[in-house]
Amino acid sequence: MSEHKPRVLVTREVFDETLDYLRAHCEVIDNQKDLPYAPDALAAALAACDGLMCALTDRVDAALLARAPRLKAVANIAVGYNNIDVPACTARGVMATNTPGVLDDSTADLAWALMLGTARRITEVERRIRAGEWTGWRLKQWLGVDVHHATLGIVGMGRIGQAIARRALGFEMKVLYHNRKRIAPELERKCNAAYVSLDELLTQSDFVVLQVPYSPETHHLIGAAQLKQMKRSAILINSTRGGVVDDAALVAALKQGTIRGAGLDVYENEPKLNPEFLGLDNVVLAPHIGSSTEATRKAMAMLAARNLVAALKGEVPPNLV
Ligand code: GLV
Repeated sequence: MSEHKPRVLVTREVFDETLDYLRAHCEVIDNQKDLPYAPDALAAALAACDGLMCALTDRVDAALLARAPRLKAVANIAVGYNNIDVPACTARGVMATNTPGVLDDSTADLAWALMLGTARRITEVERRIRAGEWTGWRLKQWLGVDVHHATLGIVGMGRIGQAIARRALGFEMKVLYHNRKRIAPELERKCNAAYVSLDELLTQSDFVVLQVPYSPETHHLIGAAQLKQMKRSAILINSTRGGVVDDAALVAALKQGTIRGAGLDVYENEPKLNPEFLGLDNVVLAPHIGSSTEATRKAMAMLAARNLVAALKGEVPPNLV
């Protein structure tokens, strides 16, 4: 770094410890009020900045980069970076980083919370209790389905997919997975998971969990045709990104009983999710909180800050994408 501290813009509220670290190395424009920047305001604020620490709510594209002549590095506080046009960054010599590794277990836990919550209808029955509809125990009351000993199909077997699979060992599940590439035999053994085609996974699984990154290739990977391939008793979990599922097709499938239920943490056009989800009892809805534990979000923000500072020092940041 030169004698002048580089100037960085942090687009959203972060932890005090993250700011303290950044301020030790940079001049920081923070946003602790957490008012999201409109694209134009972001471009204006970024015009005189060397670094950007942003979130998946910020779109970093060629138009923004063209208005940020000093920009050298963009640190996303997320493992997914579909909000960043990486080729456009590369073309301008801007380094882009993400936060892999630190959120795997928390995100896997949330996928499991959605699986268990949907299978045992937790949010639906809670609504019944709160509405005063629980009049006493009945044998056939709000029957769910078993997670233990069921077949789990994981689409996208990266670090998070593998963490989801490892948790299935305790539930004595059969685990199938589909991935662009087969994972190493040693990892398959650790996860007790068998590699299958997507068709096979969809037709055989009781729980289908989506953990692929979002890209043009995975846009609407699960649409009407794939939902039809699934068992009528099956549950779909989307804990990765909106857009991997065709939400309109999913609403139709949930209404028609094409599948039994869905547990969702992410949506197309979030936070303006398809309003029809709100009227359905067979869907458990979470507001994109996969990595949202205090420890994990602190680790993500700190990792993003370290990536940014390293890049601005002229080093290769640990998580360059
Ligand atoms: C969250 O969605 C992330 O990509 O980290």
